[in-house]
Amino acid sequence: MSVQAIAWSPSGAVRIVDQRALPEARIERDLESAEAVADAIRTLQVRGAPLIGIAAAMGLVAGTRELRGAPREEFLGRLAELARLLAATRPTAVNLRWALERMARGAAATPGDGAALWDGLRAEATAIWEEDRAMCRRIGEAGLPLVPDGATVLTHCNAGALATGGIGTALAPIYLAHEAGRRVHVFVDETRPVLQGARLTAWELAHAGIACTLIADAAAGSLMRQAKVDLVIVGADRIAANGDFANKIGTYPLAVLSLHHGVPFYCAAPSSTIDAALGDGDGIPIEQRSPDEVKTVAGRPVAPAAVEALNPAFDVTPARYVTGYLTDRGLRKPPFAAD
Ligand code: MRU
Repeated sequence: MSVQAIAWSPSGAVRIVDQRALPEARIERDLESAEAVADAIRTLQVRGAPLIGIAAAMGLVAGTRELRGAPREEFLGRLAELARLLAATRPTAVNLRWALERMARGAAATPGDGAALWDGLRAEATAIWEEDRAMCRRIGEAGLPLVPDGATVLTHCNAGALATGGIGTALAPIYLAHEAGRRVHVFVDETRPVLQGARLTAWELAHAGIACTLIADAAAGSLMRQAKVDLVIVGADRIAANGDFANKIGTYPLAVLSLHHGVPFYCAAPSSTIDAALGDGDGIPIEQRSPDEVKTVAGRPVAPAAVEALNPAFDVTPARYVTGYLTDRGLRKPPFAAD
């Protein structure tokens, strides 16, 4: 069984699993306001491209609960303000903007005052979440033929249940292969600097009873040279029309290594991750995070305090390195057009 990363609390708050606490503790937090959701996204309590889109949509609902008695203009004004706040939290994953724009369109098309608008928002946010769950499953079905009995898959970062509203993107074919009784083994890149692979992917695979081995990011090439990796599947934060895509820093070198060693390299993502307005990956904004994430491990310094560190959170992998794109519409090749 995969984990569920998000839910409504009985009072209408956004219930999340605080991903900073994993794997030591599984702590659920009820986020009562859009501001609390924005803070949770910024600080990686909730992370992963699809999940931050879902969380932001639900955050708009939680943040407008008190405005159900408000006139239409007041409600829409506050909604726009909260959407701007949430949109500014993280720049790379396009799912965030996609979800917020969808919520705004939904509100604009809903007649009535605060009560009707709020009901509409809640239904739209729930639909975004449910659709993501269904898209994850379809991504899994698209990738299932690539994961036969005995397959060894390498993945980077966390593109699993903890990053989505369902069974994940890159991990979805693995969950379905496991469900089908196939023996699968996963090499999990630890994914420095924030260790989403070690802390999150290894945790959720172990929770689901799927065999995995944690490796230092630098070990991938050597494993490929020894023919120990059948295929690589990673997630994406934004895919441009030509197929270039941004994902967690370290994805690009993995793609280069895969091509060099003849290992098939797949990018798995829902339609909400495709930014067809961007011709290629050069236009994808790359989030620069605090140097402290590089200079520390689990909060402890691992470098001289005065040393400079660079911390781009994502890199861009050119389309020519990608064997195929596992999407909710099947195994695809670029170019990707707008819906
Ligand atoms: O910084 P993060 O943890 O939000 O980065 C997440 C990733 O890069 C994932 O691989 C990507 O969002 C795909 S999640 C299904």
